[in-house]
Amino acid sequence: MLSVTGANRGVGLALVQDLLEHKPSAVVFAGVRKIDSLKTGDKLKDLADKYGDRLNLVQLSSTSVEDAREVGKVILDKAGKLDVVIANAGIMTGHSPILSVPLEDMRNHFEVNTLGPLILFQGTAQALFKSQSPKFAVISSGGASLGQLFDQPITAYATSKVGVNMIAARINQEHEKENLAAFALHPGVVETDMSAGHEFSPDFKIITPQESAQSILKYVDGATRSSAGGKFWSAPDDAEIPW
Ligand SMILES: NC(=O)c1ccc[n+]([C@@H]2O[C@H](COP(=O)([O-])OP(=O)(O)OC[C@H]3O[C@@H](n4cnc5c(N)ncnc54)[C@H](OP(=O)(O)O)[C@@H]3O)[C@@H](O)[C@H]2O)c1
Repeated sequence: MLSVTGANRGVGLALVQDLLEHKPSAVVFAGVRKIDSLKTGDKLKDLADKYGDRLNLVQLSSTSVEDAREVGKVILDKAGKLDVVIANAGIMTGHSPILSVPLEDMRNHFEVNTLGPLILFQGTAQALFKSQSPKFAVISSGGASLGQLFDQPITAYATSKVGVNMIAARINQEHEKENLAAFALHPGVVETDMSAGHEFSPDFKIITPQESAQSILKYVDGATRSSAGGKFWSAPDDAEIPW
């Protein structure tokens, strides 16, 4: 039983597709911000029609406490437990230097990228605690590393991802009793709407959403509390990132 947020496009959609195609036992709860606007011809909707009970689409806005609670309840009712959450939904809007970054940008990024996964954890915790070895993976960004600062003015985005890294670390720290592994993952520099139009240094390898999803799922699959709990990891590089 898995839950993936931001599932209608980008890395989230690739995660859902990979799970359905390559993990026959997986039952997926896919969070979508505007579920009512999904229509036939949209990839996620077509996957839901094809895979039936294995793919459950759920209304989930990252900023809604009610949505997260409702999703937790639906999963408990339908599946009785939740093994994995992948908190993938996120935004990166605008690149501003520290001198001029609008506070509104800071707040918006914090709401979605930092508080979103926190709300999601709070809403799904009871379902996660029913699993023998629950995992809570936060899709963060290498841009949040304080030990390897990016040479780009991604102030609002990076600050919000530093915040969510701490959320992942705290979840891990406080839930040893439940054998829960919480960790932060960098998905790579991925060809999605989020990265479109940005110039990346030639040092960065740009990967497809499918490649990113494969590397994330490989890591999540093998993750245990002792191997992955409390780590900040680059999935495509299979390497630890300094916090
Ligand atoms: N792409 C990269 O190079 C890269 C690099 C490092 C980290 N990341 C991280 O990887 C994750 C996925 O990024 P991506 O590249 O796939 O981005 P994307 O293509 O822009 O997709 C973002 C997803 O998040 C959802 N979302 C945004 N705001 C939301 C909200 N308030 N509530 C619920 N869902 C919301 C979007 O839903 P809507 O369609 O409704 O907007 C969409 O499904 C993000 O956390 C991002 O920060 C990406």
